[in-house]
Amino acid sequence: MKRVGVWDSGVGGLSVLRALLDELPEVQFVYVADGAFAPYGGHSADTIIARALGITQALIDASELDAMVVACNTATAGAIDALRARHDRLPVVGVEPALRPAAQSTRTGHVGVLATRGTLTSPRYAGLLARMEAAYPHVRFTSQACEGLADAIEQDDLPQIQRLCEVGWRSLGQQSPGSAPIDQLVLGCTHYPFARPQLEGLCGPGVHLIDPAEAVARQTRNVLGLPAPGPVVSPRTAPVEWLDTGHAFNLARAARRWITPDAQVRVLPI
Ligand code: DGL
Repeated sequence: MKRVGVWDSGVGGLSVLRALLDELPEVQFVYVADGAFAPYGGHSADTIIARALGITQALIDASELDAMVVACNTATAGAIDALRARHDRLPVVGVEPALRPAAQSTRTGHVGVLATRGTLTSPRYAGLLARMEAAYPHVRFTSQACEGLADAIEQDDLPQIQRLCEVGWRSLGQQSPGSAPIDQLVLGCTHYPFARPQLEGLCGPGVHLIDPAEAVARQTRNVLGLPAPGPVVSPRTAPVEWLDTGHAFNLARAARRWITPDAQVRVLPI
């Protein structure tokens, strides 16, 4: 059976894991929350690279690994190149803000992007934005960092989630007075799908929220070389292994709520 690591700073990667579990019932997943260093938003790229290399090595030392999914936009922006360079035979799948699908779907010509500051200030995002602006010259992209939102979702702090979603959505509007309304909102942080109800309440029905999780799951199937799923959904063959480098409380709560009520989290001491 294939064994795949899925890593995020905390619980955000569960939004990707959900799609992976649906897409790949025949795969054994190991989920790692880097709770000791969450959130990643405030860390340097060097720190995130060190965490990427340390966590991946710990999974490889425990058992063979067939692929690694970096289920975090901030970590993909900061560390995926270093991870691929160190493990050149390990397929590494990353996640980045889904600007292309948003540009292809927009009718108003205005796309909003919410992400962490670490993602939005990275050279990788600058390159992606430049490529998309060149490919879709009629589309305007407005990006906004949502300081603290990933952490509020991590803590399950509902009033704070609501407040920070309001700040993020309002700031997008303030950056673009007089332009056409945003009709595509890219969720550029894997934590943000867990604020979907709050964001949908603020944006209204005319705005489509874009979560790249299903595309990441399909890409993971491709890199594993597994055939496309047939019409009959297979039962899941192996339970997820849950690991947290910090205290396991946030991950256990979120995994039991969003994935499976019997999730048991072990501490990964690195
Ligand atoms: N879930 C992460 C992302 O997709 C980041 C949250 C954080 O640790 O700051 O960017």
